[in-house]
Amino acid sequence: MDYPITKQEYDRIRTLLYQESGISLGENKQSLVVSRLSKRLRELEIDSFAAYYDQVTQDDSGGEFTRMLDLLSTNKTDFFREPKHFDYLREQILPTLEREKRIRIWSSACSTGEEPYTIAITLHEHVKNPASWEMDILASDISTRVLAHAAAGLYGEDRITTVSPDIARRHFLKGRGKSAGLVKVKPHLSKLIKFRRLNLMSDTFPIKSPLDLIFCRNVMIYFDRPTQERLIAKFHRYLKPGGHLFIGHSESLQWIKHDFTTIAPTIYRKDL
Ligand SMILES: C[S@@+](CC[C@H](N)C(=O)[O-])C[C@H]1O[C@@H](n2cnc3c(N)ncnc32)[C@H](O)[C@@H]1O
Repeated sequence: MDYPITKQEYDRIRTLLYQESGISLGENKQSLVVSRLSKRLRELEIDSFAAYYDQVTQDDSGGEFTRMLDLLSTNKTDFFREPKHFDYLREQILPTLEREKRIRIWSSACSTGEEPYTIAITLHEHVKNPASWEMDILASDISTRVLAHAAAGLYGEDRITTVSPDIARRHFLKGRGKSAGLVKVKPHLSKLIKFRRLNLMSDTFPIKSPLDLIFCRNVMIYFDRPTQERLIAKFHRYLKPGGHLFIGHSESLQWIKHDFTTIAPTIYRKDL
């Protein structure tokens, strides 16, 4: 059974979501909010959206806000999702860093980790002597739930069907016994990645050295144009001259002001 929602209750939830995460729901998504959150209200034995809003805002741990955000947004992701970006990393970016042997990458809305692990696999597969490189991957998301999954590096076997069997053998351990049907990312990949909770709405990020590459894929689509513009300007600041930004295939910087050079529809470069 779904709970009824008043316009005022909807507006309060929508405003909270926007202020805290930048996700813009639009004025008429009441039915989405009702269908996605009603089950949670039932679990908590709460009988109205007004009472649920109070619970979310009074939970100082932020746990219920994360729960609400996870239910209202999507965490959908895959290993080697939108593979052209990994081809570009391999073919165009890695050769330019061959002398320096140092690369810093930020997967800025990493969800359950498939994106940063795919980056780590690409680095391991395509640089000569990976041990001689300094490789740092920062993987962040606003949701502590998806980050815990990402940091565990544990997936159902069905999640790696987009990974070739050879690559899977080199980079995943196959579960046996109680863990049959599961795979775990091998330590040579996980040690390259730091997982952190970061909100893309923050004015600054704890990033000290300029980055070679930022992945910000399939999250900006939920933000309105002014929020996207502010975020893209921040990314520009954190990249090295010549550094790249990858965005999702259904996203575009076409309508926003920015200082990047467009290399391909979802690939942008900061000028030297
Ligand atoms: C659809 S997933 C994208 C995963 C991955 N980048 C990909 O393309 O496969 C979107 C992620 O953005 C995260 N997210 C939403 N708002 C955010 C914010 N303000 N700051 C950081 N992450 C956010 C969500 O928690 C979710 O995990």
